[in-house]
Amino acid sequence: MNKELKLLFSKKEIAETVARLAKEISADYADNKLILIGVLKGAFVFLADLVRHLTIPAQIEFIRIASYGSKKESSGEVIVTKDVETPVDGKDVLVVEDIVDTGLSLQFLIDHLRSKNPASVKVCALVDKKARREVEVQVDYTGFSMDDGFIVGYGIDFNEQYRALPEIFVVD
Ligand code: IMP
Ligand code: MG
Repeated sequence: MNKELKLLFSKKEIAETVARLAKEISADYADNKLILIGVLKGAFVFLADLVRHLTIPAQIEFIRIASYGSKKESSGEVIVTKDVETPVDGKDVLVVEDIVDTGLSLQFLIDHLRSKNPASVKVCALVDKKARREVEVQVDYTGFSMDDGFIVGYGIDFNEQYRALPEIFVVD
C-alpha cells in the first residue's frame, strides 16, 4: 500500500531552520550545563543535525516513550520504555522532539524529567501543530508550525516507514 507524499519542507528550508534553532540555543545556553534529550525514534535525524550546528558543549541523551492506542491519535496513556542514563539533577535539560501535536506526550515527558530535579527543562520541537493542542505545554524553540496534516520524513514515520527521507512530506 503506497501512500501519496507531497513535499512540505525542503532540504534547504530544513537546513536553514535547524541552523537558526542551533544559533538560538547556543546563545541562550552559553553559560549552562546543557543536556539535550532526544525523543526516540522520531527526533534522531533532527537531533543529529542540530548538535552539529551548536557552538556550545552539550551532553546528549535519549529517551523513548510509548503511547497506547492508535498510531495517528495520541491516547495520552504514556510510558517510558527507555529512560535517560545519566543524572540530570542540577543540569539544564532541553527536550528535542520531532512533533508536538496534542501535547500529551510532551506533558508526560516534562513531568517525568522534572521529577529528576534538573535546574531547568525546556523544549525544542521541529514541528509544532499548535492548533491541535489538548493540554497546555510550552515549546521554547519551534522549527516549523503547521495546522493539520500527517507528516513523514527526516526521522518521522508512518508505521515505521519513510524515516530515511531527507525532506518532510505530507501523507495523503
Ligand atoms: P502528542 O502526544 O499528540 O503531542 O503526539 C506527539 C507525537 O505523535 C510525536 O512526537 C510523533 O511521534 C507523533 N506524531 C504526531 N503527529 C505526527 C505526524 O504528523 N507524523 C508522524 N508522527 C506524528
Ligand atoms: Mg515523538
